[in-house]
Amino acid sequence: MTTQQIIDLEAKYIVPTYRRPPFVLDRGDGVYLYDTEGKAYLDFVSGIAVNALGYGDTELLDTLQSQSQKLWHVSNLYHTMPHVQLARSLCENSFADRVFFCNSGGESVEAALKFARKWARETHGEGKTEFVAFSGSFHGRTMGALAVTAREKYQAPFAPLMPGARFAPFNDADAAVEAITPATCAVIVEPVQGEGGVHEAGAEFLRALRQRCDEQGALLIFDEVQCGLGRTGTLWAHEPSGVTPDIMTLAKPLGGGLPIGATLVTEAVAQAIQPGDHGSTFAAGPLACAVAHALFERVRKPAFLAHVREVGSYLGARLRALAAESPVVTEVRGRGLIWGLELTVPANDIVAAGFEAGLLTVPAGEKVLRLVPPLVIEKEHVDELIARLGPILIETGET
Ligand SMILES: Cc1ncc(COP(=O)(O)O)c(C=O)c1O
Repeated sequence: MTTQQIIDLEAKYIVPTYRRPPFVLDRGDGVYLYDTEGKAYLDFVSGIAVNALGYGDTELLDTLQSQSQKLWHVSNLYHTMPHVQLARSLCENSFADRVFFCNSGGESVEAALKFARKWARETHGEGKTEFVAFSGSFHGRTMGALAVTAREKYQAPFAPLMPGARFAPFNDADAAVEAITPATCAVIVEPVQGEGGVHEAGAEFLRALRQRCDEQGALLIFDEVQCGLGRTGTLWAHEPSGVTPDIMTLAKPLGGGLPIGATLVTEAVAQAIQPGDHGSTFAAGPLACAVAHALFERVRKPAFLAHVREVGSYLGARLRALAAESPVVTEVRGRGLIWGLELTVPANDIVAAGFEAGLLTVPAGEKVLRLVPPLVIEKEHVDELIARLGPILIETGET
């Protein structure tokens, strides 16, 4: 099929939930993607913070191949080994005692919401069913996750949503304290908001949430679907705050590109859950879990995380220098390898200019350009980014 034929067939047969640029991606190698015409793109999106190890990582490939020859799927009706190995490693390297596996970020949030409701009912009785979430949040597009996602545009067409969700301003500890009441079963927050424009939750804010949740007998849920698993230069984005949650949601990079999500919980939360309370046909499949285990063992290594911090701070410095020269960049925010450039022009325009220049970037809201490259990029890739993005950001807005 030609590039145009693929695009035409997509327009005819695919439900139009996404707008896509006029090229077709065909293969990946390292931190580059190639389209069907052979054009190379430096990838600063990594499948929206998914492909942490880039493309063609030999260890992930070996794991995928050997597990695929043994077993792909048997359902959760039976014992298998890969999900146990992965769960043990996730627990040994986090606050958590147990893990529920699923297939996506949205599902990991759904499980978190259901577990919180069940825990509250078992522990405190009826009437403790509310969730507190924050302005700028994004937790997914399934009905429960959407209800705690502060985006009118995403919510309005699908009302009525799950009842019991209320919102407080992000990073406003006083407002949060007021919003968390005896009716609250859980508070959900991203330690670094991704889709909302790359905004970090302050350590004081997270500490205030923890304290108020404890006072009101509510659970604290950290959504680390986008910011977790090394993205910020520590294994968990919440680490520098010193605050730990009762539940944490993971997905995106966990499967190295295969669909897998996880909801990590404390023993107290897990004790409220019985067989039959929740489940999923595909979840915890041996193939995705074997690959995820290989990915996690790599990403959690101190040297790997040190690399993310080192390249990340180099990227931050180069972005700040670029912003000083650009008429359209008003702020540079980020940590590790998640960065947002606040713009005076639509981020989509910059993303489109990037395509022309052989560069993939992604908006986070209308006027924030987001950079979430594979975690294995080197400084030379940062230099290449600046060489491609610099002229766009400097020339845009100049007349
Ligand atoms: C913080 C956060 N939570 C949840 C989700 C939903 O994940 P998924 O698209 O895999 O359902 C996303 C996706 O962008 C996210 O960034």
